[in-house]
Amino acid sequence: MSPAESRKSAERLAEARRQERLAYIGTLASGLAHEIRNPLNSIKLNVELIESELAAAQTCDPAALRKRLARIHGEADQLAAILNEFLAFARPPKMEPLVTDLNQYLEDLLEFHEPECRKAGIALKRDFARELYPVRIDPAQFKNVVVNLLINAREAVGEQGEITVSTRELEHEVQIRVADNGPGVKASDEERIFEVFFSTKERGTGLGLAIARRIVEEHGGRLFLENRPGRGATFVIRLPKGIFLEFEQDKEPKSGTADERR
Ligand SMILES: Nc1ncnc2c1ncn2[C@@H]1O[C@H](COP(=O)(O)OP(=O)(O)OP(=O)(O)O)[C@@H](O)[C@H]1O
Ligand SMILES: [Mg+2]
Repeated sequence: MSPAESRKSAERLAEARRQERLAYIGTLASGLAHEIRNPLNSIKLNVELIESELAAAQTCDPAALRKRLARIHGEADQLAAILNEFLAFARPPKMEPLVTDLNQYLEDLLEFHEPECRKAGIALKRDFARELYPVRIDPAQFKNVVVNLLINAREAVGEQGEITVSTRELEHEVQIRVADNGPGVKASDEERIFEVFFSTKERGTGLGLAIARRIVEEHGGRLFLENRPGRGATFVIRLPKGIFLEFEQDKEPKSGTADERR
């Protein structure tokens, strides 16, 4: 392919990605409206109750008022959290991939999460491959993937729960697995868990796995579920080894601006 042709094809790909994202944002917007309606209704109802209690000032009970205000506070926090997640999803920051030793990277993340797990009586285990092909990831974005999977696992397993994070080198890919011994995903939900706003949790936004999958795919990888209903869920991330080779090529001197090479 000539440089002009390859630039054209890169432009077409970028345009297709933009279109895809626009379509996605449309779906997201309707999901967002749905998610916002409930807390907003609850805020409105509680404010109306406070107003009518204040109108009958003699019978006004400060403890009941405080309870209502706390409820409003909680709902407003929930709304802010939904919006933050939504914005992170709709406007992802630019990828800045770095060649990374996955074992070390995961170990750092796990150490950070260990105290919280210990407090909840959950064992956080590692089963790392001794040698692992370096991969190219954006550490800040990829953290969202691992953290979302760990939080889901933590929420799924009860006390005496176990979460095992393992790494393996496959022929063309490097694999990370986050396995838990919780109840697993209900078979009828398996198809839906990666959808935006699909959640079975009372306070879940249902963005965690959608965000995680999108980030993994932006790294050229895939994220999928290996489910054992009743015995646990395992989320598998596979990243292509090839992205490291691309990095090696990137280092070779090339003509053209940095933008043209992307
Ligand atoms: N480890 C797991 N075990 C069992 N079910 C899971 C597990 N991880 C995810 N799920 C199911 O997939 C659904 C979607 O997960 P996702 O992380 O996208 O959203 P959420 O955890 O419900 O909310 P959020 O992550 O936005 O706070 C969950 O509600 C749950 O039903
Ligand atoms: Mg989640």
